[in-house]
Amino acid sequence: MPPGPPGHFLFGSLQDFSRDALGFYTRCAREYGDIVSFRLASKKLVFINDPVIAGQVLLSGHEKLHRSTSFMKHYMGLLGNGILVSKGAYWRRQRQVSAPPFSPAHMQAYARDIVEITCRHMDSWRENSRLNVTAEMKSLMLRIAVKCFFNIEQTDEVKTVDRAIEQLSLIASKRIRRPVNLPLWLPVPENREYKNQLNKINNLVYGIITQRQASGIQYDDYLSAIINAKYDDGSRMSAEQLRDESVNIFFAGYETTAMALTWVWLLLSQHQSVLTEMENEVGGLPRDRLPEIRDIERLSFTNKVIKESMRLYPAIWILSREADQVFELDNYKIPPGTIITMSPWVMHRDARYYDEPELFNPHRWTGEFEKSLPRFAYLPFGGGPRICIGNRFAMMAVVLAAVTIMQRYKIRIRSKRAVRPYPAIILRPASPVWAEIERRPG
Ligand code: HEM
Repeated sequence: MPPGPPGHFLFGSLQDFSRDALGFYTRCAREYGDIVSFRLASKKLVFINDPVIAGQVLLSGHEKLHRSTSFMKHYMGLLGNGILVSKGAYWRRQRQVSAPPFSPAHMQAYARDIVEITCRHMDSWRENSRLNVTAEMKSLMLRIAVKCFFNIEQTDEVKTVDRAIEQLSLIASKRIRRPVNLPLWLPVPENREYKNQLNKINNLVYGIITQRQASGIQYDDYLSAIINAKYDDGSRMSAEQLRDESVNIFFAGYETTAMALTWVWLLLSQHQSVLTEMENEVGGLPRDRLPEIRDIERLSFTNKVIKESMRLYPAIWILSREADQVFELDNYKIPPGTIITMSPWVMHRDARYYDEPELFNPHRWTGEFEKSLPRFAYLPFGGGPRICIGNRFAMMAVVLAAVTIMQRYKIRIRSKRAVRPYPAIILRPASPVWAEIERRPG
């Protein structure tokens, strides 16, 4: 196995990882190099910090590897066998039938929804007041996701699903950090709470699917696409498959985007000259209509701001794979069951690829720089066949929501203390981010 921290004889590096996972990963790369191994309790992990070796995992090794479920298993009741966790031929088939709603052809309609919902969402803000940015970006992206993918205008039921997923995630993230867990079937309070929340989600999601099927109405959205999707043999997805895929899209799709947008506001607040430059660019958009998809390519600086923000604060800070058989990687034979990880957080802050990596500098994203950047040195959406299915949608949603908000409001975050990132499955601010908002004239 590659070199790495020896750790505690029983728990390995679990304590260091649980205390500060980002710091632990960063130290591993600094002290042990491009391929590192360590243990979290009984689990062996390999950590890759080199774009070429990452390519061996994401691209050439793709057929032999699957997304690791060692952490995800704590979410298994929730995710079922959906696209995030499924493997092999089954995953390939599901990915194929799920892809059409994420194709460029659908983006124009999504763009209209994104902008309209952002405007309606802002209508509920009080002018010149304080705003919990983390919570507001989450509820905005939730409204956007359920409208675009399930054609649901936000209802109390969707909020219930959101809260239930939040509760499940809290429990799952505790379970990930514990060396030993009680089996889920034991009726202890934590397990009962898990099941209770899961039942709520299942009731609602099955309800939404059944209602759509019964209505017979065809929408141009994700839900209709997967209900209508036919496999090669002419069969369609079962109710359980529809439930799993819907929950997976919901789970993967909106908190990531919401946190990406939250980090943008934070970084802009800390970098006045970048903020001014972006405000100038947004100020140049036509005033007589709302932003549209065709504006995005004109917003070249804004696009760079978002890219740079996703570099410093990638919402998915760690990617993981696992092999069922020995996997050869950079002259090492990685035993089956080892979790192979790559960290966008660490890779994106590597001085070999980014000058002054800690500096928030959107100007670095010139065409020339992008060409010179090794493939997989920038991977906020992963890479290879399991690249984020919603990446096009996500980029568009972050850009359009940011400019629509910026047209109407000044958002100023004046936190005295630096906001620490908290690496749950999704990288989020460790505490709520508050902003003062001021309505722009006109
Ligand atoms: C800024 C927002 C987002 C970020 C940073 C993000 C990031 C990622 C990353 C890094 C992966 C790959 C993980 C891996 O290789 O193990 C991924 C996969 C995935 N993402 Fe996203 N994502 C975002 C938004 C979305 C949206 C909007 C959707 C859908 C509505 C979505 C759906 C998915 C799905 C289904 C997968 C699994 C794909 C597969 O395994 O075939 N994501 N995402």
